[in-house]
Amino acid sequence: MLTVGRSSALVALLLSFLILGAALVDASPQRGNGRNRGGNRGGNRGATRGGTRGGNRGGNANGNAGGNNNNAQPQTAQEQAAQIPGGISQATDGSTILDMTVDINNLPIRFKVSAAAADFTTLTDVTGATQDPNTPGTQGLNVLLHGDGGQSFFDFPNQGVLSNLAGVAVLAPDPNLFWGGGQGLDRTDGVAHAQAVNDLILDVLPQVLSFNSSNVFFTGVSGGALLMSGFFVPAHGANFAGNGVLLNCGALAPQVDVVDAATVGATTRIHFQSTQDELASLQQSIPEAIVAYEQIAADAGLSAAEVNALQTVDNTPNGGHCEFDGRDFVDGIQLIADNFATIMQGGDGEVNGIGNVLTGVVGNEQLVFAGGA
Ligand SMILES: *[C@@H]1O[C@H](CO)[C@@H](O)[C@H](O)[C@H]1NC(C)=O
Repeated sequence: MLTVGRSSALVALLLSFLILGAALVDASPQRGNGRNRGGNRGGNRGATRGGTRGGNRGGNANGNAGGNNNNAQPQTAQEQAAQIPGGISQATDGSTILDMTVDINNLPIRFKVSAAAADFTTLTDVTGATQDPNTPGTQGLNVLLHGDGGQSFFDFPNQGVLSNLAGVAVLAPDPNLFWGGGQGLDRTDGVAHAQAVNDLILDVLPQVLSFNSSNVFFTGVSGGALLMSGFFVPAHGANFAGNGVLLNCGALAPQVDVVDAATVGATTRIHFQSTQDELASLQQSIPEAIVAYEQIAADAGLSAAEVNALQTVDNTPNGGHCEFDGRDFVDGIQLIADNFATIMQGGDGEVNGIGNVLTGVVGNEQLVFAGGA
């Protein structure tokens, strides 16, 4: 098995990519695959969705996904996802998507990277790749962690290169495709999963793509936002100082010690995006996370005005969980992804259909929800 441990030899890593590359040449594109969507929606019934809405989606999709499979019924969301081929395809903006799997700390980590073909390394099979491995580049990354069940990994709403950020999506190494494993707000594998994401970016991606590791932003969706705020930012945020994380429809106060809290608190841009009819458990945990992160910034010496410049929150859309457009889970997430630069990279925060989302957190920690509980 391919192994990319923190201390593994570079030779082994290079060999891994050569083997993978050979296997990926004939793989077909992702989008437009009917089973793809069905399988993902099926997985979407996560603990953070819950309720009848999640149940309905899950029921429909499971039938579709199972029907395409001859003898062996895919048992888990992870097994269903594994039937969707990786490989090389084209992003909506015409750039190239590479979808591959590596082993990191004994976890299977599947990821997608989208960027201009020339920016991939010659270790990959991307036609037109020009870069040597470990060659720093000018573009940054926007790394997305999907919600429970993996739908946003397959949809890849941050695909393409947007405002100098190449889109990356990572699939949770979990049978249910829950980031952090466990269920609900209890993400029992959060430490290991956060470590794997960190190692993917710092150790593996430089073998695949030329990028600027000082310009790496993050997007969390639902369960992915729980992993981001509960585990990744506290444990590894200092490795990506000066950037930020967009937490969609979910947040947790840090579940582990904050490493280099002064740096994380003073430099990490955080936006909490929710909706009026957010899930009940998240109506509790998002305000708790806001209070905790605000405190980290205050402890780092920031004034209220400085905290408000770094940490913002909005839950004005009249929609359910992740329905930021007021209507739909997928379209709502896409809307926020399309507006990443205006929200996270110094834009004015005006999102079409929502209004201005950049409300400072200070004094606005206790979000008012319309219902959904
Ligand atoms: C990398 O990103 C950092 C942070 O945005 C920036 O200051 C630096 O100039 C970038 N480097 C290159 C080569 O673009």
